[in-house]
Amino acid sequence: MRATTAATTEHLIRYGGEFTDLVIERADGSWLTAEDGRRILDFTSGQMCATLGHGHPAILDAMQEAAGRVVHLFSGFLSRDVIELARELMAVLPAPLARAIFLSTGGEANEAALRLAKLHTGGHEVLAFSGSWHGLTAGAGSSTYSAGRRGYGPGLPGTMALPAPTPYRCPIRHCRDRCDLACLDVGLALADAQSVGAPAAVIAEPILSVAGVVPLPDGYLARLKAACEDRGMLLILDEAQTGLGRVGTMFAFEHDGVVPDVLTLSKTLGGGLPLSATVTTDAIEADVAEKGFLHYTSHLSDPLPAAVGRAVLRTVLAEDLAARAAELGARLRAGLDELARRHEAIGEVRGRGLLLGVDIVADRDSRTPDAVHGTAVTARCLELGLNVNIVKFPGLGSVLRIAPPLTIAPEEIDLGLEILDRAFADVRG
Ligand SMILES: Cc1ncc(COP(=O)(O)O)c(C=O)c1O
Repeated sequence: MRATTAATTEHLIRYGGEFTDLVIERADGSWLTAEDGRRILDFTSGQMCATLGHGHPAILDAMQEAAGRVVHLFSGFLSRDVIELARELMAVLPAPLARAIFLSTGGEANEAALRLAKLHTGGHEVLAFSGSWHGLTAGAGSSTYSAGRRGYGPGLPGTMALPAPTPYRCPIRHCRDRCDLACLDVGLALADAQSVGAPAAVIAEPILSVAGVVPLPDGYLARLKAACEDRGMLLILDEAQTGLGRVGTMFAFEHDGVVPDVLTLSKTLGGGLPLSATVTTDAIEADVAEKGFLHYTSHLSDPLPAAVGRAVLRTVLAEDLAARAAELGARLRAGLDELARRHEAIGEVRGRGLLLGVDIVADRDSRTPDAVHGTAVTARCLELGLNVNIVKFPGLGSVLRIAPPLTIAPEEIDLGLEILDRAFADVRG
């Protein structure tokens, strides 16, 4: 991957390493077009958000229509789109989830969730997975353990890590491939030992994404919820990437049969526009309202993103995109499994629906992550016209993260697989 020329980026802060040499001019469906005419198949749905694809007419119409009416308001005012989005969301969420607040980003939604949990419980201790990513705002960032901690001063007191249950590389070196939940018991015992008696919440992704696309092992979430109840903690599930159909069900937690006390939605809710939600129960909302819950941002309850959120939700339901994600996910999974048979560098393929991970290893026995190989494969993919993302953190693996739009055509999935196949062959050669 060539670095972008200094001439085009001299006034930009580098927020995540070097930029690529691409300047994207437009995006339609599953495709990006650069200024120099290069076409790139987008297997990451932008920053994992554009599950309807780029430029979906439902989103464009909603933006245009809302822009002609009202874009932004004083936070004390409500618009019909905010009221209706809350109602429509509750119609697809199980009881007792009943009330939402609408914000802009995933980090903000998790800040609100953590503040709700602290005010409700009176505690401040928060557990999160060692491979988590919940955003980089101060509260969410204190519970983000996969990256971004060093060099920015202390995290919040009371934040503690639970071992991320990653069966391919057991965090406590106890089992291999089949998690018996011992890592949860060990993690809770450590947290109990450190507790000063002020528990507030556990925040968790039902499929850890940045940790390498790791679905929680069967039975894990139910045991975690019981552990929360025992300790008087709220269970916050962060469905930034997994919510609204991507993993083959409307929400990932349906797979586990566990309803959280607080749910956060973000990336997929706005389909590419900044919209997030924190959802909780009537009882928790009533309690914190009584205690004077305060949470403001400039773009809280903004009408235009709410109109877009309604369009996203309507489209996911009308086109049954959760079922489509399950169906196309099976096709993608079969193709990736076939690649794993041919390319030794692929240690494991995992995930659900259209959120899949390809773990790149130096050798299949040791399962040592091979970030150099993985990075070379993604760079070659980009040269060949495919955007796949790599997540690589020490101890967690080096994993290609594949999450195309749920509207992608089957032939586009096949094309992406062909490009991946060629990239693996070229890098090995
Ligand atoms: C699971 C999860 N939660 C929260 C966030 C943070 O969202 P944002 O970057 O919109 O603040 C991310 C972003 O990658 C995420 O993957």
